[in-house]
Amino acid sequence: MAINTSVEKVQDYDVEAIRRDFPALDQQIHGEQLVYLDNAATSQKPKSVIDSIVQYYENDNANIHRGVHTLSERATLSYENARKTVQKFLNAQTEKEIIFTRGATEAINLVAHAFLEKLSAGDEVLITAMEHHSNIVPWQMLCEKTGATLKVAPINDKGELILEEFEALISRSTKFSAISHMSNALGTINPIRQMIDLLHQHDIPVLVDGAQAIPHIAVDVQALDCDFYVFSGHKLYAPTGIGALYGKMERLEQASPYQGGGDMISVVTFDKTVYNKIPYKFEAGTPNIAGTIGLGAAIDYVSSIGVDAIAAHENSLLDYAVEQSKRIGKLRIIGTADNKGAIMSFVLDGIHPHDVGTMMDRQGIAVRAGHHCAMPVMDFFGVPATARASFAMYNTHEEVDALMAGIENLIEMVG
Ligand code: ALA
Repeated sequence: MAINTSVEKVQDYDVEAIRRDFPALDQQIHGEQLVYLDNAATSQKPKSVIDSIVQYYENDNANIHRGVHTLSERATLSYENARKTVQKFLNAQTEKEIIFTRGATEAINLVAHAFLEKLSAGDEVLITAMEHHSNIVPWQMLCEKTGATLKVAPINDKGELILEEFEALISRSTKFSAISHMSNALGTINPIRQMIDLLHQHDIPVLVDGAQAIPHIAVDVQALDCDFYVFSGHKLYAPTGIGALYGKMERLEQASPYQGGGDMISVVTFDKTVYNKIPYKFEAGTPNIAGTIGLGAAIDYVSSIGVDAIAAHENSLLDYAVEQSKRIGKLRIIGTADNKGAIMSFVLDGIHPHDVGTMMDRQGIAVRAGHHCAMPVMDFFGVPATARASFAMYNTHEEVDALMAGIENLIEMVG
């Protein structure tokens, strides 16, 4: 099928070369070439990331920060080099501001825990109505424990934050704010620089949930001036089970440790423990060493192409998908913000999104169907769930054609 020429392909972006770096893309599902469009859930991994993990386990496997032997030194060096890679990627001031976690969820829980003793009844935590459960539930738990109140800034029918209402909710009682950079269910990109400025006018610390933004938007934490920024590696072509928390040094110095155990201490007696320096104070126990090395390799891979080039390609895919979807009368897009990342959530009249997911899979097309861990967003739009196609650096315009043809086929099948 020919692609519509009113949507430009990005010049000099060699998507076929990129696809060859991702072994999992080259397979058949139910006799059809796989079309992988579930990248907002998790991305596929390039060979360089897979190789970095194999290299670690085949040659360098040892625990870090503990041994003087060569393997431990090699493992420690690779682990700490990955920290520097994350620091550069986010433009943090020092690598000490980077803490490795299991993912964005653990990083948010870490920060919520660090703020636990600072909140009391009458205090407020401000979030938005488009948050993922991982940026709702930890704050709800914190409020339950401390008596603080959770405040939620509303969104409009396009799925955009209503900035004036967000501003109106900021008061002397607001002690913390946690906001998503980009919505996983809608694709909306928030005006976070403006939101951070509004919060900082009142000296309110702010955490940005970058789980969805990180593969699509170049992030500069110093330019944003956020107090915390969190992301998961697996949406950025890295393995699962690894992510990072960026925290401004002065904020990390005020924070309590999240978990107790090995490596986060400098002296332990039965009377008292003296904690280790930052960042180690927040990394108790043996970490995910292989995953961390894989995260470093993923960032190197992404940086070699460039986040801006990747975003331009993905935006062209989204524009093309939105344009092509107009010919399908039964299709309604959920989330039509002016500033959007490469996510297309949709419903089809009379067909449950779970059936859409299953019937697309029979055609080799992987999309996610469900509430996307954002039940309040589904409630707002009055739908139980949506189907969601989410694009990554390796997707093609031909795959968008396959998506549209797949949707048309299933509408025909259901009748
Ligand atoms: N948060 C992931 C998603 O949006 C799992 O699918």
